[in-house]
Amino acid sequence: MPNAIPQHVAIIMDGNGRWAKKQGLLRVQGHEVGVQRVEEIIKAAQEKGIRFLTLYAFSKENWRRPKEEVEFLMGLLSSYLDKKIEVLIKNNCIFNVIGEMGDLAPTLQKKLKQAMETSKHNTGLVVTFALSYSSRREILRACQKIAEQAVRGAIQPSGITEETLSRNLYTADMPDPELLIRTSGEMRISNFLLWQISYAELYITQKFWPEFTRDEFEKALEDYKGRERRFGDTCPGRGSNESSGARAVNGGKT
Ligand code: IPE
Ligand code: IPE
Ligand code: MG
Repeated sequence: MPNAIPQHVAIIMDGNGRWAKKQGLLRVQGHEVGVQRVEEIIKAAQEKGIRFLTLYAFSKENWRRPKEEVEFLMGLLSSYLDKKIEVLIKNNCIFNVIGEMGDLAPTLQKKLKQAMETSKHNTGLVVTFALSYSSRREILRACQKIAEQAVRGAIQPSGITEETLSRNLYTADMPDPELLIRTSGEMRISNFLLWQISYAELYITQKFWPEFTRDEFEKALEDYKGRERRFGDTCPGRGSNESSGARAVNGGKT
């Protein structure tokens, strides 16, 4: 039996700079074309019936880039919110952010919070942008929150389960991604959703993000369909319809 359409797809949108260089353009022009692909892939995900789409847009580590490029990316995000978010919300999408939002400029934070607030009663695709995101820091923050609960006596250390940690991540309300896509060929995770992708299928394409069209997305979904998901078992099937992989094996109890 082929796998069903994944409930949750996460994407590391990489390669804007290299794509631009190949075309003789500036890196920032690659980011501009990248935004068009974001719109296209959101539409495609909606049409395919995917429930959660999580897009790695800016990592905590990306602050190390030259100031001009960081400013350009922030400006691009801001104008995306100004011009496109209304349509996204009208199309019944829920807009969501994971990451350290406090790092962003107050005006940008305001726009993001407004988009989240306006869309929170929608019932369609949940579009999550990872912004100033670091998976290690997300896990660390969860540990701190759990430790505080333990100090208050609200939880016993022996009562801390995988579920407890999952519930204290930014992604608490989402199933784990079944499919992780990375464009532009790098064979690395770059500090993205380390806990959540423990049993995700990986799809790494040589295409740069500005080349990752709807057709390319469909290829990734087609590839996923044919994957044999075993979850440590000897044959596929048992638990393969579960979205949360390893967590499904023992019903989330450890
Ligand atoms: C991805 O493209 C966009 C962000 C990380 C913001 P890059 O800017 O990383 O492009 P390459 O990897 O240098 O080609
Ligand atoms: C990962 O891309 C982060 C995003 C796509 C936002 P990078 O281009 O920052 O990754 P590395 O540094 O090459 O691993
Ligand atoms: Mg890159």
